[in-house]
Amino acid sequence: MRSEHSTQKMDDRPARILLKRAEIQERIRSLGEQITLEMQGLTPCIMPILDGGMIFTSDLIRQISLPITLLPIKASSYGQERVSSGRLELPLGVSPLARDQDVLLVDDILDTGLTLTTLYSSLLAAGARSVRTCVLLRKQHAVHLHADYIGFDIPNEFVVGYGLDHAGHHRNLPDIRCLETRKNPKSLNQSS
Ligand code: IMP
Ligand code: MG
Repeated sequence: MRSEHSTQKMDDRPARILLKRAEIQERIRSLGEQITLEMQGLTPCIMPILDGGMIFTSDLIRQISLPITLLPIKASSYGQERVSSGRLELPLGVSPLARDQDVLLVDDILDTGLTLTTLYSSLLAAGARSVRTCVLLRKQHAVHLHADYIGFDIPNEFVVGYGLDHAGHHRNLPDIRCLETRKNPKSLNQSS
């Protein structure tokens, strides 16, 4: 076990809390209400973008009082890095089940916009009747990018927790935290 004094190694650790679990849940409740009102009369096909959008989606759908269907899609552009590779990989493609659906794409964060822009046109090309977009977070450098539903505008920090990862880690943290490179990091339990 690593103690606070046992290493000089620089390390990446989730540190400062940016959004607490209670404020995330409160915002999701009002997003759910808004979606319920604005998609009245439809059966939204909710499409979580895996893996990051999974946790947000599972809370969001329980705040939507409409009949829904769930059709996850797998996409990735980050790999192990903190910056987008600029290429979106869709290892399983776009499901033919999206045809004639009113799709609501749900992702964790809007950064360069590559994911939502690519999926938006791919879904329309696959015959979706309509495509709406919902993100929990939008980074400051993306404020000019549109999503129909946005949870929070945040600073240009790399964040983890509540579904967001760095190199596959930290998705299960209940709060959203900034990932910081620090010397002699405290353990998460110590810093929370
Ligand atoms: P975009 O396609 O560049 O808009 O980026 C969207 C994807 O990048 C998201 O689905 C996330 O998986 C990933 N991403 C962007 N910024 C962050 C971050 O700060 N933390 C974790 N993942 C991020
Ligand atoms: Mg993602």
